[in-house]
Amino acid sequence: MLAVAVLAAGKGTRMKSDLPKVLQPLAGSTLVQRVLASCEGLAPQRRLLIVGHQAQRVQATLEGSGAQGLEFVLQQPQLGTGHAVQQLLHPLAGFEGDVLVLNGDVPLLRPETLELLLARHRSSGAAVTLLTARLADPTGYGRVVANGAAEVSAIVEHRDCNDEQRRIDLINAGIYCFNWAKLAAVLPGLTTDNDQGELYLTDTVALLSPAMHVEVADADELNGINDRLQLAQCEAVLQQRLREHWMREGVTFVDPSSCTLSEGTRFGRDVVVEPQCHFRGHAVIGDGCRIGPGCLIDNATLGDQVEAVYSVVRDARVDANCAIGPYAQLRPGAELSEGCRVGNFVEIKNSTLASGVKVNHLSYIGDADLGANVNVGAGTITANYDGVRKHRTVIGAGSKTGANSVLVAPITLGSGVTVGAGSTLTRDVPSGALALGRARQLVRENWQGPS
Ligand code: UD1
Ligand code: CA
Repeated sequence: MLAVAVLAAGKGTRMKSDLPKVLQPLAGSTLVQRVLASCEGLAPQRRLLIVGHQAQRVQATLEGSGAQGLEFVLQQPQLGTGHAVQQLLHPLAGFEGDVLVLNGDVPLLRPETLELLLARHRSSGAAVTLLTARLADPTGYGRVVANGAAEVSAIVEHRDCNDEQRRIDLINAGIYCFNWAKLAAVLPGLTTDNDQGELYLTDTVALLSPAMHVEVADADELNGINDRLQLAQCEAVLQQRLREHWMREGVTFVDPSSCTLSEGTRFGRDVVVEPQCHFRGHAVIGDGCRIGPGCLIDNATLGDQVEAVYSVVRDARVDANCAIGPYAQLRPGAELSEGCRVGNFVEIKNSTLASGVKVNHLSYIGDADLGANVNVGAGTITANYDGVRKHRTVIGAGSKTGANSVLVAPITLGSGVTVGAGSTLTRDVPSGALALGRARQLVRENWQGPS
């Protein structure tokens, strides 16, 4: 039997934030979600989250993101990591098996590493097995006192170390696998005899035997986050991992380090990503797309062979062979069918464009439905808002609007309509008609102005 317990009750004082530390975001998901995700593959029988500081907010965030079968355990007040784990004595009373305890601020762990920890723990029969790494700069971490046979005699917190102990470069990652019955027996005996006056989980290690450690090769994996510097370092590690993954899957990044990805980003084959592109949320990019330079693609789906340059696409759908930008903005609810062209300084919101629509220059298309092959002239605006409500504009297939047209919604133009340049239309136009809504031009020949 396996239980997983994540420590997420601390305040995270060193972050200097109103947000609890475990809810800080990293590549689009929170620290605690990442920690929980890293142990999903172990299929534990129980999953417990110890919450305390802003407990309700942490709980609500996790419940809102569909955390099923998670047991929330309250630690109030927060008297240290040992005190946090003492809160499990009641919910895990009578539990037989191992408990994997993870600090909620160690977000880069790989599932394989946890599998290795668990396998070593079970094959050695240790009372506790913990993950360690050797760091060039171990400042701030607990030092692990161990012998050559990977047996641990103690963990000493940085601030409690003597000079000799401070020189130890083997650090405690805050990831432990305990035999629960043995841990439960020593937990009540913890004392606050340390610099912070807290109950330290790390003190249980000296009380348990045998205590073993598993040293990981990639120390980055064990990075703990206490402040925003470490948050940024972890973000950099994650971004590097994501880019490397997609490069191996056949995506070309012209300048990889200038681009950022979310976990939910997906690329097809032969995509080229130019410099300074950012993908967030569920960004799904089809085969052969060319994105950038300078794009933000947030929660949007792009079909095959789409090109986008210096543009923002958010909560939108763009089908195959469309061209976006430079300098276009597709806002929530923009849906472009195949072969559309949206050019410079064009904004599209909550609108459907059928195939082959062109909106090439300086337009706002909001709450509109455009039929196939509609050609929207430069500067055409759908006036969708009367100050209180939004209204729709419908333009039939093959229609053309002249430059600087204003279509005052609600309004329907049939198919094959031509709108003269500079028109302001307030009434529907039947199919095949020419619509003009502007003052007639006046010409006075040989005009003598005032003298
Ligand atoms: C801890 C370890 C240290 C290790 C380091 C790894 C202890 C005493 N020290 O130090 O050996 O090198 O992690 O990153 O464990 N928490 C609670 N309740 C509390 C206090 C903390 O749930 O009362 C949670 C925090 O939310 C956090 C985790 O425990 O997720 C670790 O706490 P933190 O204060 O960051 O410990 P470190 O000082 O980093
Ligand atoms: Ca920490």
